[in-house]
Amino acid sequence: MPNNLSYEEAAAVPAGGLTALKNLQKANIQEGQKILINGASGSLGTYAIQLAKYYGAEVTCVCSKNNFELVKSIGADKVIDYSKEDFTKIAYKYDIVYDSVMKSNYSQCKKILTTNGVFVNNNQLSKIKVDDLLFLKDLIEKNKIKPVIDRIFSLDEIVEAHRYVDIGHKKGNVAITIGHKNMDFY
Ligand SMILES: NC(=O)c1ccc[n+]([C@@H]2O[C@H](COP(=O)([O-])OP(=O)(O)OC[C@H]3O[C@@H](n4cnc5c(N)ncnc54)[C@H](OP(=O)(O)O)[C@@H]3O)[C@@H](O)[C@H]2O)c1
Repeated sequence: MPNNLSYEEAAAVPAGGLTALKNLQKANIQEGQKILINGASGSLGTYAIQLAKYYGAEVTCVCSKNNFELVKSIGADKVIDYSKEDFTKIAYKYDIVYDSVMKSNYSQCKKILTTNGVFVNNNQLSKIKVDDLLFLKDLIEKNKIKPVIDRIFSLDEIVEAHRYVDIGHKKGNVAITIGHKNMDFY
């Protein structure tokens, strides 16, 4: 567990953080590349933004206007509001399109990819290794990335927590505390 996170923050690292990392590794992200992240304000998206910035990429985020400030605060260089603009039709090319919310496909995104551009969307990821988690732990302890926590629910509120997540508009991650909500875990 990273030494600078609460239990709730740490619990939100492995699933979202590793999935985002494996997607960027699969796309072979390189310094100076341009990446577009769809669903940028979700769990995978918020990790992908910070990891892409760590790798030195220029990051364009697709999310609703409500989340522009959030994604900019963690590294977004450009933002697109999906309710106003269809990102698959913009006149710009990306080295990587990562659709973390899986709302598009390769055929739709081909037009906005460079000649050797890569489309990734959480499918067919390589096996997770312990080293991947240790890599994230190291980046967190160096303050390069941090989990974005939207809400924390108690175990008694688990049904409400699922309802909230199922709506599909959480910002980053939702955590469940087993114990008292305001307990100091540090
Ligand atoms: N979280 C994980 O650990 C994990 C791991 C593996 C796979 N997955 C899968 O990956 C997908 C994403 O999960 P997630 O937890 O990152 O996020 P999520 O909770 O599914 O989505 C949350 C974000 O998606 C944005 N969004 C909703 N509709 C959108 C649209 N049409 N275009 C662009 N953005 C849109 C929302 O922003 P607005 O509120 O601004 O609309 C919200 O911030 C899900 O299908 C999930 O099952 C998740």
